[in-house]
Amino acid sequence: MIVVRGKKISELSRAGLAEHLAPYEGVTIDVGTGDGAFAYRYAQRQPARFVIGLDPVREAMREYSAKAAGKPARGGLPNVLYVVASVEQPPAELHAIADELYVNLPWGSMMRGVILGDPVVLEGLASLARDGGRLRVVVNMRIFDDPVPIEARDLPEPTPAYARGTLAPAYDRAGLRITEARAFAGDEMAELATTWAKRLSHRRAPPSLLIEAVADGHE
Ligand SMILES: C[S@@+](CC[C@H](N)C(=O)[O-])C[C@H]1O[C@@H](n2cnc3c(N)ncnc32)[C@H](O)[C@@H]1O
Repeated sequence: MIVVRGKKISELSRAGLAEHLAPYEGVTIDVGTGDGAFAYRYAQRQPARFVIGLDPVREAMREYSAKAAGKPARGGLPNVLYVVASVEQPPAELHAIADELYVNLPWGSMMRGVILGDPVVLEGLASLARDGGRLRVVVNMRIFDDPVPIEARDLPEPTPAYARGTLAPAYDRAGLRITEARAFAGDEMAELATTWAKRLSHRRAPPSLLIEAVADGHE
């Protein structure tokens, strides 16, 4: 898989990754990490966990990946890595390694996938999780306010009832059992503190949906 560190990219094998992971008690993947700020802070706050930020847009991760790879005195962290990949084509090296998955404020094909219950996106997410791994998705519902952007015009509004009724079977088929679907509160958004959570909360936090699921196991 392709790992980014500032302006450089390199290949990392499953064996190379295993060496990184060995000292840690759990693995978190932040899928669609964007600039990677959330992954970086999470790794700082949870030094016993290894955190992987994953996003197809390599340039977006440049600043935080450079910082993480630097000297400890300048913000270097041993327990975070940034991987260039999309959820539809997750690297084989990440298969079944995470006991925690985050999808924070997705956009593009990942947003469509989690809202429509698209099997390719959901199976991609599920493939990253160990048995019993936990998935936490936060979807911005403000985009369904007028004027709805083109990307969301044909999407159903993802209410908690829609998630429990319509999405649950699709998530189930992908091996993800929904355990919670509810409105995500403004103070929770403030605590989430991703770059987009802050950007979208400029005046007030956007109404949002939280979906939590547990990975039910691989074939
Ligand atoms: C609104 S940004 C949120 C970034 C970050 N999670 C945050 O909260 O600051 C949405 C992110 O989803 C990523 N994304 C969109 N489609 C994706 C896909 N198919 N696989 C992985 N990431 C995707 C985009 O590249 C972008 O970084």
